[in-house]
Formats: sequence, C-alpha cells, structure tokens
Amino acid sequence: MLSAPTIADEILDLKKQRRAILLAHHYQEPEIQELADVVGDSLELARKAREFEGDVIAFCGVWFMAETAKVLNPNRVVVVPDRAASCSLVDACPVEPVREFRRRNPDHVVVSYINTSIEVKAESDILCTSRNAVKIVNSIPVKKPVLFLPDRNLGNYVKKQTGRENMQIWQGTCIVHATFPARRVVEAKTEHPEAKVVAHPECPESVLQLADFIGSTSALIEWCAASHAREFIVMTESGINHSLSKLAGKRFYFVANENCNCSECPYMKLNTLDKLRDCLTDLEPRVELSAEIMQRALLPLERMLAVK
Ligand code: 13P
Ligand code: SF4
Repeated sequence: MLSAPTIADEILDLKKQRRAILLAHHYQEPEIQELADVVGDSLELARKAREFEGDVIAFCGVWFMAETAKVLNPNRVVVVPDRAASCSLVDACPVEPVREFRRRNPDHVVVSYINTSIEVKAESDILCTSRNAVKIVNSIPVKKPVLFLPDRNLGNYVKKQTGRENMQIWQGTCIVHATFPARRVVEAKTEHPEAKVVAHPECPESVLQLADFIGSTSALIEWCAASHAREFIVMTESGINHSLSKLAGKRFYFVANENCNCSECPYMKLNTLDKLRDCLTDLEPRVELSAEIMQRALLPLERMLAVK
C-alpha cells in the first residue's frame, strides 16, 4: 500500500507546479532549511532572489527580506509563510522620524540596514547588510556626515571599524541579539576554555569585545568551517546550528539571552512547514507593493549591490 504523502512531499510537488524557488534564512526551522533551494544570509538571499527566473519566490525568512526580493525581482510572485514574521528593528524605525531627520539634515547620507520597512528603504541613500556594512560606509566620502539606522549595535561596530567620527546612530535593537549578556559568554568560556567565540554584529559591544570573529550569519559559518578550532560559542540565533552541525568534528554552544532565556527569533520561528505548504497553495500571504515605492527602494538597494 502506498503511504500518504508527507508535508515535505506536498511542498516539493507544489514547488514544481508553481515553478517556485524556496529561499530560507539560517534562522528558519531545520525542516524548512532542508527543503530550501538556497539557505543564506540576507545579502546572499537578496542576490538569489534577484537572479531567479521562475514564477514564485517562497521566502522563508522575515517580511522585510521578502519585500527586498520583490523590489529586486518585481515580476515574480513573492510569498512568505506567515505575514506576522516581522523584526524588532523594523518596528524600532518608523518612516516619519526618518523623513523628519532628512528634512532637518539634508547634508547627511542615510545608510539603512536591510532590516527596515520598504518605506524607510525608500527614504535611504544606500542600504547595507551585516555582511557588507563596513564596506558600504567606507564607500561614502569621509567628509559626508552619515546617519546609520536602525541597529545601534551594528552602527557602533561599523563606526569603530571605519573610524568614522561624523556618524549618527539610530537607537533600535534586535530583541534576540541585544539581550545576550556578556557575563553568560564569560561563563560559557569558563566551561569551554578552548572554544572560540563568534558573534553577530547586532550583539552589544560588551559581547563583541569577547569575540574572536564578528560577521553575518553566513560569514560566521564560513569562519567556523575554516577555523582549526574544534569548539565554538555562537552568539546568534540558534537556527544557524542546522548548518554548523554539518561541520564534522566540531562542537557548538549557544548562550541564552535575557529576552526569552533562549536564542530564538520569535518572528523567524513563525514560519512552519504547514504554513509553507499553504502559502505555495494559496499564493498568500503575498508581498504587494506600489510601483512608486518599489522604484524608490530599488535605487539604494542597487547602490548597495554595486559596492564591490
Ligand atoms: P544576516 O544578514 O547576517 O543573515 O542577518 C539577518 C538578521 O536578521 C540577523 O538578526
Ligand atoms: Fe530581526 Fe533580530 Fe529576528 Fe534578526 S534575529 S529578524 S534582527 S528580531
């Protein structure tokens, strides 16, 4: 007797029928990552979305990432399993105060982290991700004053790395990374003295000071893969463990934050296999944006992608 198809079988069938690509961020549940065509950081996923030639992009990540995909490839249908998959950084940066800042400071270059709403992107001069933020700020003439938004910790890290004096920083934070306490990293180091510490730049400076390497999600995986060390304390969302655990002979330790006493992003974890199947069936929730906002957001995105 034939066994009933699993949800994974249904998703793979729908993917073919819909001529869809499944893009998944490293923070997604392992079963979603296993089905994905590409798993990556926000820059890699944006590039993949831009070059896709099929019909549907099923974006397993958070909404701002899917909006970015839509702007870069507007003729595709872009769906996300759960419309409520947002980001605390998006909430920390409404568009009106950004417009007000621009009115009052017309000389400033507005550099926006990709973790922003489409409206904020449209008000920005150039975008960045955690992977290229230092490079992007370095691409701006030194004399130009900069507003970096919305992540305070990434902004402070970039300011330090670039030595840029004239840089104002928005005060938004990520609820996952900003609540990692440095004392828990020290405790983990005491327990695993041989372990190297790798950290996402959204962590507070007190945590970054303890890190052997700082980078985007994919950069953290690449560094751990290339390192001779065998143990690592990983200061980011625990979904990344799915890729890390494939690195043979290496062990990874995660530290709980003070938000949930875990290291999970509650927004990323809203996406489930059931919801992924449903969004490929219904083609909803779907990203729909006006031509005007897409055109305005495309410019700072293209500027970012042009920086080598
Ligand atoms: P990455 O671009 O490093 O994958 O980061 C995205 C993110 O939301 C980190 O919290
Ligand atoms: Fe946003 Fe933080 Fe979740 Fe990343 S981990 S999507 S920055 S809330």
